[in-house]
Amino acid sequence: MPMKDLLRTEDLSRADVELLLSTAAEFATEPTKASAALAHKTVAIYMSKPSTRTRLASETAVAHLGGTPIFLRGEDLQIGRGETIADTARVISQFCNALLIRTFAQSDVDELGANASIPVINGLTDYDHPTQVLADWLTIREKFGADISGRKFVYLGDGNNVTTAWLMMGATMGAHVVASTPEGKWAPDSDVVARASAIAAKNGGKVEVIHDPHVAAKDASVLYTDVWMSMGDPEEERREKEKALKSFAVTEELMGMTSTDSIFMHCLPAHRGEEVAASVIDGARSVIWREAFHRRTTIQAIIYHLVRGEIKGY
Ligand code: CP
Ligand code: NVA
Repeated sequence: MPMKDLLRTEDLSRADVELLLSTAAEFATEPTKASAALAHKTVAIYMSKPSTRTRLASETAVAHLGGTPIFLRGEDLQIGRGETIADTARVISQFCNALLIRTFAQSDVDELGANASIPVINGLTDYDHPTQVLADWLTIREKFGADISGRKFVYLGDGNNVTTAWLMMGATMGAHVVASTPEGKWAPDSDVVARASAIAAKNGGKVEVIHDPHVAAKDASVLYTDVWMSMGDPEEERREKEKALKSFAVTEELMGMTSTDSIFMHCLPAHRGEEVAASVIDGARSVIWREAFHRRTTIQAIIYHLVRGEIKGY
């Protein structure tokens, strides 16, 4: 049975990721290569949180596949007036051929997937960000090639949705993947670390949580970071969180400890002078614009293969 939805990064097998990356690479050089794939079809893009890249990438991807995107803002739907997630899923399934959703609770996305007859794609929840990490890994593949042995891939910041995606994808790819976070409240979810470690063990990879950013950065091939305050994070915790994360900022000093061919990555949006120094994000090692570019190529590949029932999962 093919996988109907892309709800979590960990649901993708290594073979699925390889298929998606290779198709996305084709869509990078020839965006309209499959311009009839979604002819006379529609894809709903339903967002209850802001988005610049994911919305632009998704709408453009659908257009390149010959379909029509329908953008739905969470607050405009009857769901805000009490219509259930299940009923919403059934209605969207009657009109559209796929649905990309960005919202808060992962359980809402799971419920949509369970009740929709069409593919549902997680476009970011508080828990995970699968479409982002595919763009990240295509960028990594372009830079380092398929042989990543001996390389270390480090995320620095709080344990959040991007951390889940980073650890799960790194584990799936058999990478040595690290989350460098403060201890306690902003460490990654222990269940995520345990599950990622189990996936890594099967694929020849390694998952580590390192609370000292200097130890984490030493000889790393990638330093990756994200905003310190995610969408929906409690504003009253900002000062405490900024203090806890201060030493995890990607500075010139930290970049100086990495391997000679290292790169800097960021899912964006960025706050220069907070999680990353301006000289790093705008410097020669930064690949942020290629990463952002690949949001479209990878989402296009996800929609293309899910609609055709070609993602197998485990
Ligand atoms: N990286 C990312 O998901 O960007 P947006 O929030 O702008 O979609
Ligand atoms: N962790 C961030 C990612 C933004 C793309 C957030 O959820 O706001």
